[in-house]
Amino acid sequence: MLKCNNFNYALFGNPIDHSKSPEIHSFFSNQTGIFHNYKSINIPLGEFFYYVSEFFKKNGKGANITAPFKQEAYLFADQLTERAKIAQSVNTLKKVDNKYILGDNTDGIGLLSDLIRLNFIKKKSLVLILGAGGAVRGILYPLLSFGCSIFILNRTLSNAEKLVLQFNKYGIINVFNKNLLKKKHFDLIINATSKHDQSNKNIIDLSLISNKTCFYDMNYTKSISCLNTYVKKKSNIFSNGIGMLVFQAANSFFLWHNIYPKTDSIIDILKDNIK
Ligand SMILES: NC(=O)c1ccc[n+]([C@@H]2O[C@H](COP(=O)([O-])OP(=O)(O)OC[C@H]3O[C@@H](n4cnc5c(N)ncnc54)[C@H](OP(=O)(O)O)[C@@H]3O)[C@@H](O)[C@H]2O)c1
Repeated sequence: MLKCNNFNYALFGNPIDHSKSPEIHSFFSNQTGIFHNYKSINIPLGEFFYYVSEFFKKNGKGANITAPFKQEAYLFADQLTERAKIAQSVNTLKKVDNKYILGDNTDGIGLLSDLIRLNFIKKKSLVLILGAGGAVRGILYPLLSFGCSIFILNRTLSNAEKLVLQFNKYGIINVFNKNLLKKKHFDLIINATSKHDQSNKNIIDLSLISNKTCFYDMNYTKSISCLNTYVKKKSNIFSNGIGMLVFQAANSFFLWHNIYPKTDSIIDILKDNIK
């Protein structure tokens, strides 16, 4: 049973304990002076519709949705923004005019904003994405629209193939195949796999990485270092995904309140405090 008498914004996911979103939203609330009582709620698998309906029937005004519920949130929303429609995945819900629920996806704009901040991306960047899960759905359209060419490398080939079929109308995107590469090295590699142990350590061939290749890990816990340590044998231009997390939160906050909060200081605070 969902007890939600005193909060109006929430993050729904499973698991949720690691989330930094409540800290980020509390920071935005203090900074802007907007009342924004935000709580993270771990919900049982298979119960997404029940919990989120209850939330919006009570005090709920807006929600963030994380793994594994982004596709269910896409189905839950009454209306969708263009980018959520294209992604077929929703990480932000908003109750509009007390009448209907709008679904948005701010993961892609969050990642792109951070890549631009870090100077990791250019209009024609050749990008390798590791993984083909829910988060990748949200980032493909913004990266393709920016002008990047993309290869996807995923453990389950068919999942990468599905994404390529869905997104190839928006730009140059292929399943990873060394023979299709015109350049020798990638400009940017994005880790969007969810595994933090040894199992995906050698997923890429080091010959595809130069000392100018940027490596962006969408994960942001310290324990994910196996793949990172491997990549750092060739490149030292590295960032974790804290900035993406803050920018996707800022864009959700903007959807809810029509005010875009300042992001720099919370990125600095969090990047020094990751566990
Ligand atoms: N920084 C941010 O703001 C932000 C935002 C969104 C997500 N994320 C992070 O991004 C990661 C991916 O999220 P998601 O929602 O896309 O997760 P997801 O839908 O569960 O997808 C997981 C992906 O990882 C792959 N994978 C899992 N175990 C693997 C292994 N042992 N070896 C190789 N590949 C493996 C899966 O491959 P298969 O297709 O073969 O199963 C799939 O492509 C998560 O860790 C999440 O926390 C960060």
